[in-house]
Amino acid sequence: MHENEKQWLTLDLLKATEGYFRAKHIDEPRLSAEVLLSCVLNTDRMDLYLNYNRPVYRDEIERFRSFCRERVNGRPVQYITGEQIFYGYRFAVDERVLIPRPETELMLEHAVERLTDRENVKTGKFSILDIGTGSGCIAVTLAHLLPESTLTAIDLSEGALEVARNNADAHHVGEKIRFLCADAMSSGFTDRVGEKYDMIVSNPPYIPEKEWESLQPEVKDHEPKVALTTSDGYGIYHAITKRAPKLLVSGGILCFELHADGAPKVTDIVRCGGFGDIEVHKDYSGADRVLSCVLTESAAEPL
Ligand SMILES: C[S@@+](CC[C@H](N)C(=O)[O-])C[C@H]1O[C@@H](n2cnc3c(N)ncnc32)[C@H](O)[C@@H]1O
Repeated sequence: MHENEKQWLTLDLLKATEGYFRAKHIDEPRLSAEVLLSCVLNTDRMDLYLNYNRPVYRDEIERFRSFCRERVNGRPVQYITGEQIFYGYRFAVDERVLIPRPETELMLEHAVERLTDRENVKTGKFSILDIGTGSGCIAVTLAHLLPESTLTAIDLSEGALEVARNNADAHHVGEKIRFLCADAMSSGFTDRVGEKYDMIVSNPPYIPEKEWESLQPEVKDHEPKVALTTSDGYGIYHAITKRAPKLLVSGGILCFELHADGAPKVTDIVRCGGFGDIEVHKDYSGADRVLSCVLTESAAEPL
């Protein structure tokens, strides 16, 4: 260290960075500083406070400064650190995939409840299709929660599938998940997927194109557009619902994450598509966020 160089301690550095982020109008300035510093120091956030007097060395300061510069330039914390926690599990993320959101944890929880609460379920061996897998957060977490099950995870982005496969391998569930590059909007989709499932889950791109410009720059400039928008926001719900009677067993479950305004329209779509027993659940902010429904016997089709 040079004579005039300040020796930073963990807590001082956190406070100074929080102030800097606040002045630059960064959301959750303290949390951002904590997450970035704990990544640089290879520790967790709690340890920053347990070791608040730990000196932060020059190479660590340089790396931390470069992270802070990226954050001030709008790059989301999760892409800087390369990870996001989803349902308590660590997922690698980069700009090829959507950063998993807490609302999706609700969908997953609800999907598991709906699948395992059924009277006729004895074995716990389910076959599940995840459409639009992105980082693989849903498929990998389901493989943990329902260890007897097998999964197929689909995305039209090869880049996303690579991230998802790596996450599955890192979680030692790679052999339980079949990964497929396919377009849920294409007519050959059901042949390509070619199997009967107990449940289809999907957090599809649901932001209408016309809302794109109003998104936060952090989302719009960094997260993949294909993960977020379709033309009117509903095309992909139509496409999946139309194909689902061939892909689900009779009584199979379809579970979607929704746009905050999407419940009425998606309820109509699934009802017209031969689904009943429709449930809509709210997220933490009170918005209708998850819809699940059951394929009626009369609507089921052979593959
Ligand atoms: C909202 S993201 C969800 C990612 C992840 N499942 C999650 O919940 O964090 C939607 C994903 O669907 C994929 N996707 C978009 N259109 C698709 C289509 N027509 N067929 C298959 N996947 C699609 C995108 O590449 C993206 O990874």
